[in-house]
Amino acid sequence: MMSGTGANRGHFITLEGIEGVGKSTQVEALRRLLAERTAEVVVTREPGGTMLAERLRGLLLATDLPPMDSLTELMLMFAARAEHLAQVIRPALQRGAWVLSDRFHDASYAYQGGGRGEAVTRIAILDRLVVGDTQPDLTFLLDAPVAIGMARAAARRGQPDRFEHEQQAFFERVRDCYLTRARAEPGRFVVLDATRPVSEVTAKISTVLAQRFPA
Ligand SMILES: Nc1ncnc2c1ncn2[C@@H]1O[C@H](COP(=O)(O)OP(=O)(O)OP(=O)(O)O)[C@@H](O)[C@H]1O
Ligand SMILES: [Mg+2]
Repeated sequence: MMSGTGANRGHFITLEGIEGVGKSTQVEALRRLLAERTAEVVVTREPGGTMLAERLRGLLLATDLPPMDSLTELMLMFAARAEHLAQVIRPALQRGAWVLSDRFHDASYAYQGGGRGEAVTRIAILDRLVVGDTQPDLTFLLDAPVAIGMARAAARRGQPDRFEHEQQAFFERVRDCYLTRARAEPGRFVVLDATRPVSEVTAKISTVLAQRFPA
């Protein structure tokens, strides 16, 4: 079945949102939902998803380095993404698999753009170069007030990473940027109220899947 954008034969779904909103929880739920109807589901994450990209993730999240220039951060994110697309995402879509990514390019607009203040035009140049037409078919934005996300993440994690050291105002900008992008692309984004119980969020995801991709 031909579906999705560009040259994709499979389906590409991304989950986005600030820390602690439940992306990893819902990626697992989505994997289980899709396993009932399809042969191959590839679950991956950004930054990361390949050996090299996971190494870059280590550099991006490291707290034992001096502050990084925001353009360096942006380009490392896109370097990791280029590798991820070449090694994992594009081959999987060409095989006809469903690809679920825990964060993707919207995170660069939200974190490096909204959070760090890099110009959208710079990010868009890299987006065109690196992502091109491998755009997600569907993006779930898990949205919750920053305080809720931070409290959940703090309750769960060990040591905070470099982003988690940021102040609430940083994450407010990230959240606003995500919501602005969702409003600009209502056909791709589905915004979910992440303050609702896990099972309720999963039920919404299941409903959207059935509507968008009738079996
Ligand atoms: N809807 C929810 N209601 C209450 N708690 C939740 C909900 N979703 C997730 N949690 C809990 O909040 C914590 C963070 O969830 P999860 O790891 O899925 O978030 P995340 O968005 O992947 O975070 P990060 O950005 O830090 O990776 C976990 O302990 C999880 O069990
Ligand atoms: Mg997570």
